[in-house]
Amino acid sequence: MSKDKVQIFDTTLRDGEQVPGCKLDTREKLVIAERLDVLGVDVIEAGFPISSPGDFTSVNEIAKLVKNATVCGLTRSVKKDIEVAAEALKIAVKPRIHTGIGTSESHIKYKFNISKEEVIERAKKAVAYARNFVGDVEFFAEDAGRTDNAFLAKVCEEVIKAGATVLNIPDTTGYCLPEEYGAKIKYLKDHVKGIDDVTISCHCHNDLGLATANSIAGVMNGARQIECTVNGIGERAGNTALEEVVMILKQHPYLNLQTDINAKLLYDTSLMVREKMGMLVQPNKAIVGANAFAHSSGIHQDGVIKNRETYEIIDPADVGVTESAIVLTARSGRAALAYRAKKIGYDLTKVQLDSAYKTFLQFADRQKEVIDQDIHLIMKEVSKISKIAIA
Ligand code: KIV
Ligand code: ZN
Repeated sequence: MSKDKVQIFDTTLRDGEQVPGCKLDTREKLVIAERLDVLGVDVIEAGFPISSPGDFTSVNEIAKLVKNATVCGLTRSVKKDIEVAAEALKIAVKPRIHTGIGTSESHIKYKFNISKEEVIERAKKAVAYARNFVGDVEFFAEDAGRTDNAFLAKVCEEVIKAGATVLNIPDTTGYCLPEEYGAKIKYLKDHVKGIDDVTISCHCHNDLGLATANSIAGVMNGARQIECTVNGIGERAGNTALEEVVMILKQHPYLNLQTDINAKLLYDTSLMVREKMGMLVQPNKAIVGANAFAHSSGIHQDGVIKNRETYEIIDPADVGVTESAIVLTARSGRAALAYRAKKIGYDLTKVQLDSAYKTFLQFADRQKEVIDQDIHLIMKEVSKISKIAIA
């Protein structure tokens, strides 16, 4: 059975760029956009054109540069926003306007203080207006995660009639549980007239650490687009991480879902985004963190050296990481020391290894990690007792 495609909508340059402390100039955004296009994302959300002249220029320049992906600009459900986004995007090969409005009780009551009918009216008008400029209009129902399903379905049905091509169902506050978010997508699939003619999109925030799980629950229930950022950066605790959803779909083929992402470029792309945005990545971050393929306990190291798959579900080469790392600490065993020593030229006999291991433990207890330079020193010590062969 052929796999269904899940579109990857990258919002690193819009939601990702909203991170405190991050500021990219147009030149840096162009470099990232070009890389995202090569990586194989389907949509690049390039910015929020009305928000500043700088953002307008960035969206416009990205629209000129990008040849494969759809280039998208965000707007509120406000005429002027839509006109400015249309202007910024008009040169794009594949332009998309992303417009919407909050649909939850708290947005309607406190943010807008309008009736539910008025929310639907504004949503319909925004979508219909955007359709005058582009054929591809995505509608977002902000805070859909906390919106009553029946009302959400009504809004969705009306915006489909008004011409929306994509329905974005954001869990803006990262509140939903995966089961709940998946059930929301299923509810829309079952209750909204015309839903099969549009693409449902998941846009999940990570306030409870569930953004990726929720996005996967979404596609398992019929959504076919995931909105995500490189390294999971974004407002507050961030957005769904692009590299995570790509590898989940790849590592679980029975889901019958696939993306067009060239996974071998994931690690390099992660490094590029960290460097350009000045945003560090936690060492234990899945797929792209410094420790994602590092093994430091003796039991794990022994298993990985015998067969990588004992403790790794992804081949590091598949995401562009050169190789798994065997980190030498006081918790490492003889197998790890022999492995690392061999890599830098020492082929140890059993007797030599026993002797080297004793010295190694002294080093390891003194310092957090034993590096190659230390191994040379250890071998020097040991060679005084027994001659060590250089492989
Ligand atoms: O999180 C959110 O709801 C958003 C929308 C503007 C799409 O970022
Ligand atoms: Zn968001």
